[in-house]
Amino acid sequence: MRLTVHRKAHFNAAHRLYRKDWSDEKNFEVFGKCSNPHYHGHNYELEVAVTGEIDPETGFVMDLKRLKTLIYEEVEVPFDHKNLNEELPEFKDLNPTAENIAVVIWNKIRKKLRKNLALKVKLYETPRNFVTYKGN
Ligand code: NI
Repeated sequence: MRLTVHRKAHFNAAHRLYRKDWSDEKNFEVFGKCSNPHYHGHNYELEVAVTGEIDPETGFVMDLKRLKTLIYEEVEVPFDHKNLNEELPEFKDLNPTAENIAVVIWNKIRKKLRKNLALKVKLYETPRNFVTYKGN
């Protein structure tokens, strides 16, 4: 029996979407308010879904306590109350769009999961704007 366990998490972070090789006007045209040179914050909501077989010994697909710790260590500690552009090496040369943040988070969690588990992340940048990523 394959099924999916989910865990929600939350972090606040600041970002700026821009390209260094574009003027402020061009950046505003493409990225709107998210190009503000003085940065701005979002309340990110994260949903992590792990799919796999139920372990007959434990009855778990994955111990949710472990998933909670994993998300805390890999996402909440490094991302919460940070300036993503300035403080996270992953975004030194990568625009911290919801898309790119979701891929970075997926890669970090994927590395810590058993091979036979499938991973999907859903990241809300606002209550109405969100992205999903399940690898490739
Ligand atoms: Ni923004």
